[in-house]
Formats: sequence, structure tokens, C-alpha cells
Amino acid sequence: MSQTNPNHEEKQFATKLIHFGQEIDEATGASSVPVYQASTFHHFDLDQPPKHDYSRSGNPTREALEQYIALLEGGARGFAFASGMAAISTAFLLLSAGDHVIVTEDVYGGTYRLLTTVLNRLNIDSTFVDMTDFEQVKAALRPNTKAVFLETPSNPTLKITDIAEIAAWAKERGLLTMLDNTFMTPYHQRPIEHGIDIVIHSATKFLGGHSDVLAGLVVTADDSLGRRVKQLQNGLGAVLGTQESWLLMRGMKTLKVRMEGSERSAAKLAEWLSGHPGVVKVYYPGLADHPRREVHEKQSKGYGAVVSFDVGSGERARKLLGRVKLPLVAVSLGAVESILSYPAMMSHAAMPRDVRLARGITDGLVRYSVGLEDIDDLIRDLEQALDD
Ligand SMILES: Cc1ncc(COP(=O)(O)O)c(C=O)c1O
Repeated sequence: MSQTNPNHEEKQFATKLIHFGQEIDEATGASSVPVYQASTFHHFDLDQPPKHDYSRSGNPTREALEQYIALLEGGARGFAFASGMAAISTAFLLLSAGDHVIVTEDVYGGTYRLLTTVLNRLNIDSTFVDMTDFEQVKAALRPNTKAVFLETPSNPTLKITDIAEIAAWAKERGLLTMLDNTFMTPYHQRPIEHGIDIVIHSATKFLGGHSDVLAGLVVTADDSLGRRVKQLQNGLGAVLGTQESWLLMRGMKTLKVRMEGSERSAAKLAEWLSGHPGVVKVYYPGLADHPRREVHEKQSKGYGAVVSFDVGSGERARKLLGRVKLPLVAVSLGAVESILSYPAMMSHAAMPRDVRLARGITDGLVRYSVGLEDIDDLIRDLEQALDD
């Protein structure tokens, strides 16, 4: 759980968040990256094309963000997309018809929908496995397997996959590894350091941090993969706009303090919920009884700000959602305000009920993304909402 970078010459993460290389505009000294609100760029000299010629292919504001996230994740190249799903869809299109991918079973519902209703039509096949069980991962391997897609902690039951174990196994077999790092962010977990090839974010969540921007990010471990993603980003065109790129950078600067504050409260909330008689089960990697806490601690600096808990039935969950007064009752997570969501009817509504139940996403399960409110107020609010 050390934050110390082995390269002592390098800045610490907190410093990189503020001093990422383009924080001062070289042309004017302005204290933030300029918003280059332009779709195209003048060719001053036809024989020497400008560095940027069209904003889908490259925009200086978006590029600053792309370099920023590559720096934070410790990767070679970064890419910004119109949403997390645009990022995930683009990354999956590194695969071709006839390929097979092994996927974390309780992956984000949108990723499940993409794989089972879109990519399957393109003859890209997927097998969902419980990645906490390495034997299941190995058993899913087929002659045409080309990639492994991980999400850890998984969503919403916060199961932990051993990143280095799967990455090493995949590398030996020439498989591409992709990891959705939305829940942990590079502040806590930097998958490339554990051998992952491609890191993906719904930056709509903790990176943006204020529930006011929709965005997705991809970071590749090396340049050659970066060139392939660049070709797809330009070809598919699901790029992030300049205003959103700027807003996202603004949010990312405070990532460390937001994560620290929310996580402190999440730990308290998880402990409190564990002792509540109306709560059947609590999922949080920081709890002493989390079955894979040690694996998580090996690969992450912290436990994050998302706590899922089961109140026993759909009826009780609905009652709770109707009674809480402080959190936003909504899809999404990772913001300054707490967000309470109901996976069965929100993020995982795309999953058939039997598949959802088999993955532990019961009708009584709710997911609490802890924001920056006073934790005592949040607990008091939950106490009255859980009261029978
Ligand atoms: C873990 C995870 N990955 C991906 C996504 C999709 O991102 P977006 O909503 O930005 O398209 C989400 C959205 O909730 C998510 O929670």
C-alpha cells in the first residue's frame, strides 16, 4: 500500500495531479489549459501541414487531458472519449470477428450489454467468469481467445481480482488485457504497474468528480497499442469535446483530496452498516471480513468510496430509496455528493434477472457512493431511512 514511486526522480502522485506538464499555457502564462473551441485548423503552409488539422483527429485541449491521464496511470498514450462506454466500445474493437474474450462476470451492466447484444453480432464472443477463481479463468480459455477484460473491484459486489496473476497468465498466452479502473482511479490503483495493457475509465465518475461531465478515458501501456487505439479513436470518432476535456481536467486536479475524504467516510459507513440489524450483508474491500482484502491491498493504495449493502428484499430497498434525504438517488457514482443507486433497476437493469441474481446482484442490494458530506449526517439519514 505504498505510494512511493520506485523512481525517486519522479514526482509523487499528488504533485503530478497539479503539475502535469501543461498546467500553464506556454503562449500566455494562463493558469489553465486553453479551450481550443475549434473543429478545424488553418494550413499556413500546404507543404507543412499543421500539428492539428481536424479536432476529431486531435485537439490541443483534449490532448492535454490525454497526456494528463497517461501520466497518472503510468502509461504511454492516453485517449479521451465521449463517455466511458465510448471508451470501452473503442477498446473492444481492437478485437476482430471470430475472437473470444474472457470477462469479469459482474462487470458494469453497459459492458455486459455491449458484449451480449452488439459485439456478439459482430462474431466477437465472450465468456463471463468469476475472476476471483483463477481456475474459472483458465477453464474459459479457447483457441480463439484474444483478450481478458477485468473490472476490480467489480460492480456492484466489489469482488477483487488478482490483477498481476491474471495479467501474467494472459501475457504468457499472448492475450490482450484490459481493465476498467473506474472505481479505484489511478490514485489508488495503477494496473499498468501490474502488467495490464489497457486501462479504461468512466471518467464520468471519480475523475470528473462533480456529476457534471460525461467522459471516458483509455491509457495504453505502450506506444504500439497506442497507435492502434489512435486509429480506432479517429476512425470511430467518439471523441470527447473540448469543453468536457477542460472540465474533466479541472475536476481531476482535486482527485486526491476528494478520494481521501470520501474514503474516510466510506470506511465509517461500512463499519456502521455491518452492525445494523436491518442490513443482511455489506460489501466493502476495507472491511476485515472481505474475503479478498489482502489481494486488494497488494494492488491498491486504498479501498475506495463505494459501499454496497443488501437490505434483504426488493421491498426494503425501495423503502430505503424513497426515504433517504441526503444522497442523490441515481445511477452513477464518484461525485462530491453521495449517490445511492439500485443496481437491479439501474446500472444492471440490462442484465436478465436470473443472470443478475446468479451474480449476487439481489433485489435487496443497493450501492452507496460516499460523497464529501459530513459522515455523521449521512449515517443519521440512513438510520432513519432503515428504521422499520
Ligand atoms: C465501472 C463502470 N464502467 C463503465 C461505465 C460506463 O461509463 P459511462 O456512463 O461514462 O459511459 C460505468 C458507468 O456507470 C461504470 O460504473
